[in-house]
Amino acid sequence: MDKVAVIDLGGQYAHLIARRLRELGVYSELVYPEEIIGSIEGYSAFVLSGGPSSVWEANHDQVAQKLIEENRPILGICYGHQLLAKVLSGKVGPSPKPEFGPTYVDIIKSEKIFAGFPSRIKVWMSHNDAVLEPPPGVEVSATSEGSPVAAMWIGNVYSVQWHPEVKHTTLGRELLDNWIKEAGLKREWRPSKLIDELIEYVKRMVGDSLAIAAVSGGVDSTVASVIAYKAIDDNLIPVLIDHGLHPEGEVERVREALTRLGIRLKVVDYSEEFLTALEGISDPEEKRKVFGRVYAEVFEEIARSTGAEYLIQGTIYPDVIESGGRRGADVIKSHHNVGGLPERFGLKLVEPLRMFYKDEVRAIGRLLGLPDELLYKQPIPGPALAVRVEGAITRRLVEIARRANAIVSEEVERYGYSRDLWQYFAVVTKSKATGVKGDKRAYGLVVAVRMVKSDDAMTAEVFKPDWSLLESIMRRITSEIPEVVRVVYDITSKPPATIEWE
Ligand code: XMP
Repeated sequence: MDKVAVIDLGGQYAHLIARRLRELGVYSELVYPEEIIGSIEGYSAFVLSGGPSSVWEANHDQVAQKLIEENRPILGICYGHQLLAKVLSGKVGPSPKPEFGPTYVDIIKSEKIFAGFPSRIKVWMSHNDAVLEPPPGVEVSATSEGSPVAAMWIGNVYSVQWHPEVKHTTLGRELLDNWIKEAGLKREWRPSKLIDELIEYVKRMVGDSLAIAAVSGGVDSTVASVIAYKAIDDNLIPVLIDHGLHPEGEVERVREALTRLGIRLKVVDYSEEFLTALEGISDPEEKRKVFGRVYAEVFEEIARSTGAEYLIQGTIYPDVIESGGRRGADVIKSHHNVGGLPERFGLKLVEPLRMFYKDEVRAIGRLLGLPDELLYKQPIPGPALAVRVEGAITRRLVEIARRANAIVSEEVERYGYSRDLWQYFAVVTKSKATGVKGDKRAYGLVVAVRMVKSDDAMTAEVFKPDWSLLESIMRRITSEIPEVVRVVYDITSKPPATIEWE
């Protein structure tokens, strides 16, 4: 099967390029330049991604040179375009007009990667430097005000200054599609093929050893466990840690769902350990770190008693990126299953889904025969209710968060909105407010309700529900939970907010 390596030169959208190529039927994955300098084996074509630096500051010449020498199909994007121009002896320098955001480019010839394109298109750019003069022998195929050489090609090397992978670029998908044709890549990637590859990957990693699968009940860890089960059969020990912070009824629901998939789940109760360790902690990052520490200790303990050497986790791409797991990315939150693990962890990690987005994982899950109610279950953050109690955690506040979350779920499901929403939940805020309950003044808790729509959790928009749904949630929370006097609805999108409050 043809595979494309998207070489990550630090650009914000490198992962999106890989995703778009997969959507077009060609398997593609992110790799670091050093890996390619080591060996290009296994890849049929290469994309040089965007990057934050100037080609004169960062030194990636070697990787570009190697690919050119090897005479492989290459697509350069943004920084990758400038890098190719530099190593092919063109002139790269400060643009006469740096371009950020929507920009018009003139297509000189509607052929090759621009086959079927009109003479002018609106694209998305983000650059200070530009290719000012083309390298000798290359054909300049597009230009813009700020980029005299906005696109070029020579032999099987193509490059563009703009970002075809972002949605705001017109004909971005068509450009990548044309490149796939020009590069002669076969579109053989189907999620079903991928399943076989993932099973092989787990087999290769784990060999004859024993592996624990960390099951949370969400779609990611369930898909990872089913793949691992198909790979290593009885050598898999699927474990759900009952950490005392699960939503209401969750442990039983997960046990039943996995039993139906033929997986015998082991549930271990460590709720005392988790709640004791977390009690009184108010800083969100600290909560994740503590949660991650206890989580790691529990798995190490299970590993000692069973002899397992590996831990299979359902980490997916946004978890990796938001935990700063790829070089150059900022840490937004340390997702406990990625950033929260201690540096010295006694188990070797196997994360078969770390290249994929949630919708891709759902597609894989569907092919594995997972039922819709599991595939479309809303994600629950690893530290679960610990991040739904704003500020210091106490056992009672966790109980209140559990009940409030159950009420939101029940009502949203009763109204039939659950499939439209990415997540719907309640947060026990650290605000207190005045209310009146049973004709008496009450000074109590404020619960915030949040419902968002999203494709991949990288951005989210607020859902506008029926007013009557919000009213019934408010009525139930204030009457069923004595400590709560006020319910508010969070109307903030992501960005600027994140989905969870902490
Ligand atoms: P934020 O709040 O960063 O969340 O917009 C993005 C998605 O990730 C989930 N989330 C987590 N998942 N461990 C996880 O496994 C975590 O620590 C964590 N924090 C947030 C969140 O529910 C949303 O779906």
